Amino acid sequence: MTLLATVDGLPLRHLRRGKVREVYEVDATRLLIVATDRVSAFDVVMRQAIPFKGAVLTQLTAWWLRVLESEVEHHLVTADARRIVDAVPALEPHLPVLRGRSMLCRRTDVFPIECVMRGYLAGSAWKEYQSMGTLAGEPLPAGLVQSERLDPPRFSPATKAESGHDENIPRAAVAAQIGMEAAAMLEQASQRIYTRARDVAAARGLILADTKLEFGRASEGRVLLIDEVLTPDSSRYWDATAYVPGAPQPSFDKQPLRDWLDDERRAGRWDGDAPPPDLPDALVLSTSERYLDVFRRITGTDLELLELS
Ligand SMILES: Nc1ncnc2c1ncn2[C@@H]1O[C@H](COP(=O)(O)OP(=O)(O)O)[C@@H](O)[C@H]1O
Ligand SMILES: [Mg+2]
Repeated sequence: MTLLATVDGLPLRHLRRGKVREVYEVDATRLLIVATDRVSAFDVVMRQAIPFKGAVLTQLTAWWLRVLESEVEHHLVTADARRIVDAVPALEPHLPVLRGRSMLCRRTDVFPIECVMRGYLAGSAWKEYQSMGTLAGEPLPAGLVQSERLDPPRFSPATKAESGHDENIPRAAVAAQIGMEAAAMLEQASQRIYTRARDVAAARGLILADTKLEFGRASEGRVLLIDEVLTPDSSRYWDATAYVPGAPQPSFDKQPLRDWLDDERRAGRWDGDAPPPDLPDALVLSTSERYLDVFRRITGTDLELLELS
């Protein structure tokens, strides 16, 4: 398994470089999405890569999509590098780089909406609630505290901002943008997915505080769940045994990294923008362990890379 910060030389058209993932065009109906081992914190991508992180994101997405198969149609064709290479022979020389971390996907027209489901009051939702008493413009009960459980869970859509932060928008704005029928479909699918995933996570001692889902329309018109799904990069997972409402909760995967960066900032060694400080080896390894642990906790098995050849 290679440690990978950048992907070089794939014989496909490069469509997009995300903070973590690289998106390539296979043809008119298929994409290749490669998750690198890059990690970001406070919106800055670190210079050090985290061993196994790309594989954790990819295999966790594949695992969740199997669990959710009865709830929703999705974009994943295969996350098995051998099968990807069989389907796209030009990738054969790149098999070692792709192994574990790549998804061959059905290509869609992406709805320009981040479908955020929140079961707990955290992040930008807590900020909005504190200042206005609302979530995505809709009133919530008074007197909620930070990290409190929301019953029922709320669909809190956001715009997909190209740069800067996504903006929470009212559900009516979604309907105005993509039509009533599609808006209702995305909301219902998001609710089903979150409810199922929250229960699965709870059975493993994890709280799925919130998650961001994306959907797209495939060429024949069907709506598919796309992108990464229920990964620690797209979701907030908390350790259920350490949960204390009324305060921010430690992030299961990135907390030591965030704490260390906060210390660097306080010590005046980092101004909070790129370039970030170099991460010590021990921090890189403990962060890697945490990603592997999230995978183990959620799926009940170790990440088995030999099987992913
Ligand atoms: N099946 C798909 N069809 C079309 N676009 C997709 C599909 N799956 C994922 N995407 C797009 O791939 C992009 C991944 O980039 P991005 O989210 O910026 O990466 P990162 O999460 O690493 O920062 C997103 O814009 C997402 O909408
Ligand atoms: Mg993304």
